[in-house]
Amino acid sequence: EESYDEECDYLFKAVLIGDSAVGKSNLLSRFSRDEFRLDSKPTIGVDFAYRSVRVADKTIKAQIWDTAGQERFRAITSSYYRGALGALLIYDITRRTTFENIKKWLSELRGFSNPDTVVIVLVGNKSDLRQSREVEEEEGQSLAESEGLYFLETSALENQNVEEAFLSMIGRIH
Ligand code: GTP
Ligand code: MG
Repeated sequence: EESYDEECDYLFKAVLIGDSAVGKSNLLSRFSRDEFRLDSKPTIGVDFAYRSVRVADKTIKAQIWDTAGQERFRAITSSYYRGALGALLIYDITRRTTFENIKKWLSELRGFSNPDTVVIVLVGNKSDLRQSREVEEEEGQSLAESEGLYFLETSALENQNVEEAFLSMIGRIH
């Protein structure tokens, strides 16, 4: 049971979406606890984490939801998205199929959230695996531009751009 933090001005819900094994859970554990696991298990159902951040003199408590990329382990879709004001839409730069599936995730997200207000950041994760890259940074950038999204490449392993990805989403929610 979540206890209310008196220091917190706003509580925002955000969701992580993308194919299995793109690194959703590790991006969240890196952002919320500064932890990373090479041997992490696929998520079953839903996980949550919280982090409070200061944005323009206000304390925002972000409640971040993480679910399974694998269909059979996923939570009920409508309740997962309900009330979400932000989303990180994540693919793995070393697996092209995860990038091709972004359009599918985007249409599900827009169908179940408020498409006019939800803040979406497109994230190409695993930027540390340079020699296995299958999606160029320019392709991510260009998809983001055509869909009106923000874009970053990250590495949960090396802790590159993880803060920036979450903060660029949280900072734009209002
Ligand atoms: P589901 O829960 O099945 O949807 O997967 P997920 O998207 O939560 O992926 P998860 O965070 O469990 O990571 C999957 C695998 O990728 C794990 O072995 C992680 O250690 C690895 N991984 C995650 N992020 C990175 C990264 O930035 N770089 C590298 N090299 N490996 C990563
Ligand atoms: Mg997971």
